[in-house]
Amino acid sequence: MGEYIINGGRQLSGEIVLSGAKNAALPLIAASLLTRGTVIHNCPRLSDTFVSVDILREMGCSCYFTQNVLICEPYGLNNYKISEELCSKMRSSVTFLGALLGRYGYAEIYHPGGCVLGSRPIDIHLDALKDMGVDIREEGNRVICRGKPHGANITLRYPSVGATENIILAATLAKGVTRLKNCAREPEIAELASFLNGAGAHISGAGEHEIVITGADSLDRCEHTLMCDRIEAGTYLCIAAATAGELFIKGLYPCMTEPVIQVLRNCGCIIKTGRDMIYIDAPPRLYGEIELITAPYPGLPTDMQAQLSAMLCLAKGESHIRETVFEARNRHIPELKKMGAEIECRNGCDFSIRGVNRLIGCEVSAPDLRGGAALITAALAAEGTSKIKNACYIRRGYENLSEKLRAVGAEIDYRESTTE
Ligand code: EPZ
Repeated sequence: MGEYIINGGRQLSGEIVLSGAKNAALPLIAASLLTRGTVIHNCPRLSDTFVSVDILREMGCSCYFTQNVLICEPYGLNNYKISEELCSKMRSSVTFLGALLGRYGYAEIYHPGGCVLGSRPIDIHLDALKDMGVDIREEGNRVICRGKPHGANITLRYPSVGATENIILAATLAKGVTRLKNCAREPEIAELASFLNGAGAHISGAGEHEIVITGADSLDRCEHTLMCDRIEAGTYLCIAAATAGELFIKGLYPCMTEPVIQVLRNCGCIIKTGRDMIYIDAPPRLYGEIELITAPYPGLPTDMQAQLSAMLCLAKGESHIRETVFEARNRHIPELKKMGAEIECRNGCDFSIRGVNRLIGCEVSAPDLRGGAALITAALAAEGTSKIKNACYIRRGYENLSEKLRAVGAEIDYRESTTE
C-alpha cells in the first residue's frame, strides 16, 4: 500500500509546476475509443490513468506512454466488455459506457468502484442513456447496455460531472441532436468537448448550463495538450497556507481555482496571479472564522474540502464547512483529530473546526484521495514526524508528490510499506 513519512514544521518556499489534470485525462482516454487515434500530451502518470489505459488495452486498443505523452491507437478494438476487476478499481470506468455505446451500440460494465465518499449511484448516467434509446439491464452488479444512442432532449436531475461526460461521449457519434440541460460546468467538461471537437465532433455550450451535440459520422485522429490540474493547484495552495510558506504555482489559469483563492485571501494569504501562475505568501498564523459550502462548479470544489479542513485546523477562531456534494466525505476528520485537530462533525457533512496552535505528527491512514491530501497538508504543518499509511489513495491523484514537495523544502519520503 505504501506510506509517506513526513517531518513537519518546515516553511516551504519555491516553485511547483503542475501536472496534467487527472479528472480531465480520464474521460479523454475513454474518448479515444471514438477516434482514429489520439496523442495526449501532459497526461499525468498516475494509478488512475494507468487503470484507464488498462481498460483500453482490454478493449484491444494499443496504448503506450512516452514520459507524459499517451498514445492510443484503437485499430485492434475487439471487445465491448470491461472486466469486473478493472471496473472495481476506478469510478470513472463508468465513463467508458458512453464511449463504448457510441462506438459499438453495445457495452457491458460493472458498477464502478473508486473512493468511498457516499453511495455514488450511476442512475443519472443510466436514465440519460435510456432517454437516448439505449436498452439497459442490470444483473446484480453487471450493467448490460444495448442499442446505438440517438439524439435526445435530456435534463439531468443533478449536474453530475461523470454523467455529463458520459452523455457527451454517447452523443458524439449518435444520429441527430442531443440537448443536455442542467449539465455539469466543470472545466474538465469543456476540456473533453475541445478534445472531441479537435477530432471533428460538433459540441457547443460545454462549460455552460446547456450543451448541444450534433452527431458526427466519424471522428479523426486527435492530438491534444491536457490542461493542468486545478485540484492539485488548490492542494499546494493549502499546503503553502498551512506551512506559512511562499510558493509559485505554475501551469493553471487562476480563474479555474478562484473560489479556493478567495478562501485563502480571507484567511490572510497574499495571492497574486498571472496568466498561468499563482503566487501565495502565507502569514505566520491564518485567520479562520469563515463559513464554506462546497458546490458544483463554479462553486467551491468538494475535491478541496478535505485539504481546506486540514488548513483551517490551524487558523485562528472557529470555522464551519458544509459538504453538499457527497454525503460521506468526512473520513479524514478522525485522522486529523489524531494529530490534535479540534473538529466536530454533525450529520456526516457539517464540520465545525476550532483552530489550534499546533498539530502533532503521528501515524494516520489516508481514507481516500483528497482525505489523504488533507493528511499530507496537516503533517507538513505539524510538529514532529507523521506516517501516512494507505498512500496508494494519494498516488491516484498527485504525480510526483514527494519530489515536488521536497524541491520546495519539505521533508517527505515515500516508501513501500512493510507492515500491510
Ligand atoms: C467527479 O466524480 C470527479 N471524478 C470527482 O473527483 C469529484 O469529486 C466529483 O466529480 C464532483 O466534482 C472524476 O472526474 C473522475 P458526480 P463523479 O457524478 O463524476 C451524485 C477526486 O477526488 N450522483 O458529479 O463521480 C453522487 O453520488 C474525485 O478527484 C448520483 O446520485 O461525480 C454525488 O453525490 C473524487 N447519481 C453527486 O451526484 C449519479 O448517477 C456528484 O457526483 C451520479 C452522481
